[in-house]
Amino acid sequence: MAREKWASKLGFMLAAMGSAVGLGNIWRFSYVAGENGGGAFLLVYLFFVFVIGIPLLLTEVSIGRKAQSDVVGSFAKLSPGTPWFFSGFFGVAASFLILSFYSVVAGWSVYYLWKYVSGDFFTTPEGGYEAAFGGFISHTWQPLFWHALFMVMTIGIVLVGIKKGIEAANKIFMPTLAILLIGLAAYSLTLEGAMEGVRFLFQPNWSALTNPAVYLAALGQAFFSLSLGMGAMLTYGSYLSKENKLPSATIGIGVMDSFFAVISGIVIFPAVFAFGINPSSGPPLVFITLPGIFDQMPFGGIVGLVFFFALALASLSSAISILEVPVAYFMRIFHWSRKMASVLTGSIMFLLGLVVSLGYGVLAGVSPIGDRDIQESMDFIASNILLPLGGLAMALFVGWYFKKATALEATDLTGNAFGPIWYGIVKYIAPVLIILIFLNAIGLLGM
Ligand code: PHE
Repeated sequence: MAREKWASKLGFMLAAMGSAVGLGNIWRFSYVAGENGGGAFLLVYLFFVFVIGIPLLLTEVSIGRKAQSDVVGSFAKLSPGTPWFFSGFFGVAASFLILSFYSVVAGWSVYYLWKYVSGDFFTTPEGGYEAAFGGFISHTWQPLFWHALFMVMTIGIVLVGIKKGIEAANKIFMPTLAILLIGLAAYSLTLEGAMEGVRFLFQPNWSALTNPAVYLAALGQAFFSLSLGMGAMLTYGSYLSKENKLPSATIGIGVMDSFFAVISGIVIFPAVFAFGINPSSGPPLVFITLPGIFDQMPFGGIVGLVFFFALALASLSSAISILEVPVAYFMRIFHWSRKMASVLTGSIMFLLGLVVSLGYGVLAGVSPIGDRDIQESMDFIASNILLPLGGLAMALFVGWYFKKATALEATDLTGNAFGPIWYGIVKYIAPVLIILIFLNAIGLLGM
């Protein structure tokens, strides 16, 4: 059977944007930015996205398009008889770890959406949102139901295929998401006191830049948010043909991803400041703080409904790109049908996620790595170790294993004035920076 392809380059771009824009832009970005000084963090983050992230995105997509295979197969095909294909295993492993907790958190968003649809969250629940959230995530089977539902939706899209499943879904999701988030941002800006939030987001507090942790947080956020290093972008690139030019496409994806991060910052921070909440309240910002804020707003119930609908959509379009990584791999090595590969892989991820979810309930107190709970431990191994290692392998592969002419040709940069700049970044700058994140992740720098 011929390998599947995107129907159009636009379809690929929407799917790649769908992969990039997700919990990372809304849930993770807002609390990491809030904890790391707002405007200063935004500047450093944008600097990393444009200087390192987009060049690496181009690199990752180009490997897939050149090889026309999955994350393991691409390395094997382009460098037969060498151990490079091992780097693909980091991606496959990361996909299992990330999707199993991603689906649990995305399941929480779907639950919140339901609570707004049913009207329960139109008024503050008894004991407040903190108690409501805590009670929900520590319940044994309730969050599992929403995690299962989210996983079923993810599998349902992936098993249909590239064109009719992933591409078609993203063609609906992405424009909807854009309209919803821009609408929410516009509304947020009309709130009294909103300007303080805008200032927090756009007026850099330069003193935050003296803290080395800000740079590392920003670099890590750029990686996670652009879906880099796992092979999701590589696998999506493998459904492209040579006629689709990559540099403009990858710049478009990077710009859109940052745009959505900024937009969700504009949704969240003005509201946070208008209601006098501390922006550095951490991961619960979205699930505890925001509903409390929505409650006090005019039409807050509708705003909450739209917000959690957008969050669920954004998570779904990212989750399908994560599931596609092992699905493409298993379809090739085991000759499974797409249906079989999606259902089996998704079910294993559901089971792994079960452990993550129970980590907030009956398994509370289990901390596999240091003082991290189960979810944080999986995020740590995947995001801080496997993603940087995968990204490093891709940069070294294209920068050092390929000849310069091959690298430029693979990325459609032959004869392009940006070619040498891109090459220098991928060969030297990106590897050095990734090694720095990696050392930080395993605590060698102690920063
Ligand atoms: N980029 C996605 C987000 O921001 C998460 C993701 C990470 C997706 C790695 C694919 C690969 O939510």
